[in-house]
Amino acid sequence: MEDLDPEEARALVDPALKLMIDAVHRFDGYIVQSTGDGIFALFGAPVAHEDHPQRALYAALRMQDEMRRYSAKLREAGNPPIEARVGINTGEAVVRTIKTGDATTEYTPIGHSTSLASRMQTLAPTGSIAVTETTEKLCAGYFNFKALGPTRVKGVSEPINVFEVTGLGPLRTRLQRAAGRGLTKFVGRDREMEALGHSAQRAQTGRGQIVAAMAEAGTGKSRLFFEFKARNQSGWMVLETFSVSHGKASAYFPVLDLLHVYFRINAEDDIRTRREKVNGRIVTLDPTLEDTRPYLFGLLGLVEGEDPLAQMDGQVRKRRTLDAIKRILLRESLNQPLIVIFEDLHWIDEETQGFLNLLVDSIANTKILLLVNYRPEYSHHWNSRTYYTQLRLDPLGKESADEMLSALLGNDSELASLKRVIIEKTEGNPFFMEETVQVLLDEGALVRNGTMRLTRPISELKIPPTVQGILTSRIDRLPPDAKELLQTLSAIGREFAWSLIRSVVPKPEDDLNRMLNDLQLGEFIYEQPAVGDTEYVFKHALTQEVSYNSLLVERRKLLHERIGAALETIYTNSIEEHLDELAHHYGRTGNTAKALDYYERAGRLAVQRSAYTDGMKLLATAIDLLTRLPEGPERDAREFGLQTLLGPVLMMTRGWAAPETEQVYRRAQALAESGGTSAQQFALLSGLFGGAYVGGRFAEAQEWADEMRTFVRRHLEPQFLLELHHFEWSFAFSTGEPLEAQRHVETGLAFYEANPDSVPATPYSAHHPAVCGHVWGAMVFWLSGYPEKARRHVEKGVALARKVGHSPSLVFGLFHQAQIHQITGEVKLALETAEAAVALAEKDGAPLFEAWARVLRGWALAQLGQVQDGIAQISEGIAAAAATGAEMWRPNNLFQLAEALGKANRIDDGLDTLNEALQAIKSHGERWWEAEIHRLRGELLLSRSPSDRAEAEASFNRALEIARRQGAKSLELRASMSLAQLLRDTDHRDKVRAMLAQIYGWFTEGFDTADLKDAKALLDEPA
Ligand SMILES: Nc1ncnc2c1ncn2[C@@H]1O[C@H](COP(=O)(O)OP(=O)(O)OP(=O)(O)O)[C@@H](O)[C@H]1O
Ligand SMILES: [Mg+2]
Repeated sequence: MEDLDPEEARALVDPALKLMIDAVHRFDGYIVQSTGDGIFALFGAPVAHEDHPQRALYAALRMQDEMRRYSAKLREAGNPPIEARVGINTGEAVVRTIKTGDATTEYTPIGHSTSLASRMQTLAPTGSIAVTETTEKLCAGYFNFKALGPTRVKGVSEPINVFEVTGLGPLRTRLQRAAGRGLTKFVGRDREMEALGHSAQRAQTGRGQIVAAMAEAGTGKSRLFFEFKARNQSGWMVLETFSVSHGKASAYFPVLDLLHVYFRINAEDDIRTRREKVNGRIVTLDPTLEDTRPYLFGLLGLVEGEDPLAQMDGQVRKRRTLDAIKRILLRESLNQPLIVIFEDLHWIDEETQGFLNLLVDSIANTKILLLVNYRPEYSHHWNSRTYYTQLRLDPLGKESADEMLSALLGNDSELASLKRVIIEKTEGNPFFMEETVQVLLDEGALVRNGTMRLTRPISELKIPPTVQGILTSRIDRLPPDAKELLQTLSAIGREFAWSLIRSVVPKPEDDLNRMLNDLQLGEFIYEQPAVGDTEYVFKHALTQEVSYNSLLVERRKLLHERIGAALETIYTNSIEEHLDELAHHYGRTGNTAKALDYYERAGRLAVQRSAYTDGMKLLATAIDLLTRLPEGPERDAREFGLQTLLGPVLMMTRGWAAPETEQVYRRAQALAESGGTSAQQFALLSGLFGGAYVGGRFAEAQEWADEMRTFVRRHLEPQFLLELHHFEWSFAFSTGEPLEAQRHVETGLAFYEANPDSVPATPYSAHHPAVCGHVWGAMVFWLSGYPEKARRHVEKGVALARKVGHSPSLVFGLFHQAQIHQITGEVKLALETAEAAVALAEKDGAPLFEAWARVLRGWALAQLGQVQDGIAQISEGIAAAAATGAEMWRPNNLFQLAEALGKANRIDDGLDTLNEALQAIKSHGERWWEAEIHRLRGELLLSRSPSDRAEAEASFNRALEIARRQGAKSLELRASMSLAQLLRDTDHRDKVRAMLAQIYGWFTEGFDTADLKDAKALLDEPA
């Protein structure tokens, strides 16, 4: 080229550029830039196409093809040939729009994705096409690739795998590609299969049928036909073809494809072979059809020499061509019934549509079953035909979706919640489900290792690029103003009221109504009944998400600010009901002051309404937003208030001793200087106490307790006084002083009766102190020998929790109710109540109580004979409790495990577990169940071997001694019984009987409980 003068060179290069530009346009690409010797094009933007990666490759192949032809011509003319290099990458890009003077708009993509494409271009060998791995992944199968190896690219840390495109691949449709991956087990669709079968039967008897399957992308239209075909092929000839998304510009594409299949023409066949194949087939079919040959040759591009039809009028020729094909099909159906499948009519070109209309008109009395499918945007005029059936496919129902996901993911219970999230997000669209799973696999979040396993918890699912492509291209087919409205609506949310739309969108009402109507017709949104206003809802959550994502950041901010302001105006009188929305919208603007305000208010309200999980998120966001305000005492004071409010919420949603909770209180401690109200100061102390107490650091807890006592002496407010009793009874109970605990329970509850308003809306330790007074009181009373009183208290506690409507307190109450049933050996009741506690804790997000209640459930199951399952559940519960940082209650949990292990005859494991419990008691000082642990140790030793009698007796005596020291009469009774049984045939018999009689005689109530009945039976044994 260097030898040519610039003008000559231009004359050679310009036509080449023109060829390249044409190739881009043919596949609906957008030319961003045309430099002197190259072009830069975009596919999928500014207008989205679901198959934009493929389009880019089709265009590239066409370009190279055209360039080769052009070069050959140049060479013939004695000019130097021209060769081009093409580079392609696929990825997200921000497309900047520039309005140029003459009312046109230019689009420029910016970002890493585009520079990677130019980089590929420089890497491509001359005359070839180089693509990144991302593009290769999306297009594999549709095209063939050759790996060029990994290459370092500036600005990217990992080397990038580069591929060369070598030509078209074997696959054409998405379903074929899915089949390559392995089709998912076919589920549901019984009704549709039956309808297809019915139509086939009719067609077989000479009453031709058309069946149309209509559904949105990915619902399973192609798969339905595929399955039907697979089950009904024998005796039929099946011919199938499909339109392609860029097909409107290629006339007859599906018809040509159909003919190629019918005449068995391959890509490698030369013209002569092709002509022979057509000839041969027609002659065998029916020699009277020979007159169709010139038309077929013409259409298939097989004319050799002069075209005999050259003089014919274009319209006439076209009609006769279509007629020729029709005649061949009808004739073929005389030999055997025929299934003709036309897929994806929503992309059909006009000529093929003409052929289809002709065919539809002629099949009524033939053995032809015509199957077509399309998405809802396509329409036709066949509805009035008596031989026409439409099948409208719905997304898979819950059951089928579950079945499909089980086929994809297996049945591991660990994946249950992932399955739920996938179904929720994809709303049962099978393609979306498959792609979502595939993305998780590609990312390594899911691994297939015999079974499917998650490598990390999934909090949010990404929208797969394939799904994103489908949805954006649907949105982009809307007129620009309707698209803009849809984006605005997506910023409002999944649902939106007419009154709000009107104040957010500055358009005349009529226009707005018309556009909303269009969006409804396009099935983007639905109208739904509402009181006093018209409400709309996005048909798919995913459409909303994709539409929202397509908004640029600046515009998003602007929209959210407008929506926030509109909400404030519309709901001036009921702002409380809209705090969440306001927080959401202002949180997405630059208006920190308002955002903070609404997050804080919404958070407080949520907590007040005992929606702790929501409250936690809202308050945490508020605290985050605070950091955007200038530092200073004012900010510190505000943060102190927020942290001390968030603390109790986290006690429930994360656990008292969880790192997150403790961090909040440590931060609050650092802010305490800023002052705050006495309630906030007290909240801080109870948080510090609670963390140490539940975390098993009893010595530290004692120090905080002292501070609290001092604090309350200085602030004699009812709420603090009640809390004082609350932590006193808790601590006394835990440290093995039931009598002291009892005193505080009695005074505390009496105080509450007299001061029912002494409980703040957000209790300091996340549960209502009087509910605690009753249910812990129940344990205290039971321990100190009042089973009847215990029963009454636990019922009162649960009833109170229900009455005050504080859900965390109800979780707390139910758990303790189950615990009482465990302690008293009421197995069935323990199981029922534990189950209720697990369910509620799970629903509300209270992990510690969920874990503890699981332990109880496991214990009950073991007692009922499901020993293995029981042990597993107890162990899981213990681990889950520990994961929240909790050490408290561990001795009792281990006791339950040891008891279940004993049932399984794993005595040594049981004894080890009890040793662990004793270790925990020793290091923390949690003593309320200590006596029982020694007693069970004795029982397990006895069941292991009679030779351990002496040690067992020592354990029972130890239990007895501890129970007596603590004043735990019920435990003293149990220890005495164990001893009496052990020694019933020895010289000590009378002595222990007397001891048992004495403690039994102490009791004044609860004679119908198991322990007292057993004791009586033992005493009644004849001497
Ligand atoms: N009933 C089903 N059971 C299991 N898998 C299914 C079912 N229906 C569809 N699939 C799977 O979901 C994916 C999408 O289905 P299919 O290609 O048939 O959708 P479509 O409606 O034809 O979409 P499009 O409009 O984009 O052509 C395929 O991989 C298919 O195997
Ligand atoms: Mg399909």
